[in-house]
Amino acid sequence: MPRLEMLRRKVDDVDQKMAALLEQRLKLVLEIMEEKKHQRLPIFSKDREAEVIERVGNHVRNPLLKEEVRFIHQYVVQSCRRIQSRRLFPYHITLVGFMGSGKTTVGVELSKLLAMEQIDVDHVIEDRTKMRISEIFEHFGEKTFRKMESDVVEELSKRHNVIIFCSGGGVVLNESNVEHIKRTGVVVWLKASAEEIFRRIKDDDSRPLLKDDMTVEKIAAMLKDRRHLYEGAADLVIDTDGKTVEAVSCEIVERLMEKEFDRRVDDKDIEAVDLVPRIMKSMDSASESYK
Ligand code: S3P
Repeated sequence: MPRLEMLRRKVDDVDQKMAALLEQRLKLVLEIMEEKKHQRLPIFSKDREAEVIERVGNHVRNPLLKEEVRFIHQYVVQSCRRIQSRRLFPYHITLVGFMGSGKTTVGVELSKLLAMEQIDVDHVIEDRTKMRISEIFEHFGEKTFRKMESDVVEELSKRHNVIIFCSGGGVVLNESNVEHIKRTGVVVWLKASAEEIFRRIKDDDSRPLLKDDMTVEKIAAMLKDRRHLYEGAADLVIDTDGKTVEAVSCEIVERLMEKEFDRRVDDKDIEAVDLVPRIMKSMDSASESYK
């Protein structure tokens, strides 16, 4: 056999072994997750992941390849995170709340924590129109913006992979928006006081509804009008005053885990995850004969 062909076969052989081992790892991780859930322990730990990645590098004999293997293992750990969060949360996690309540920042942090994609309704609109939200308000008015917003909300709520879904502050104004987000998502209201919101957004001129009157009084008045809508839409309420983005994100994960929700995204990958134990059975016997 030519040398190149022989080397390629060896690589295929290693890949096959790696695939079986990775599958075994994924299965174990899901079992650990169930056990942690049972014992009411926190599921994700950055420290533990860092430790695992460090240790994997220590098994590599060639010092030049140590860091490379650690780098690759970060992806493995990331993928395990994703599989666990999909199993735990087979629905969109939808963040609602007033401007400045932290929907986008918390959404980004949650997407790292759960290795899930994050999508922001306002960003989708800005991307598609190539205009800032404030420009859309200025040139076309609020009614046109609300129509665009409803279209994007409907589209995102029908996505087939779970996402961290960050709405704009006014999404709850439209009843059919709320119906859409509640069908496939668990709705988390990030609550904040008028004073705290003012402190967070007072220097931000990108909010068209507050641009002529950025005061605590105006924010308090708008909050009063909308409060019942956020409340009515919410499955979970998280107080964000005085808390860090990390603390709010961890609280969301903990609170979501306390309850079973009947929402579910029709996500083929979630089904695939459910198949892992069954696939593993056949893989176990395959790797037996492989030894
Ligand atoms: C709005 C909130 C904004 C944006 C638009 C209208 C609202 O989003 O959608 O300016 O009605 O509260 P953020 O809450 O992300 O600022």
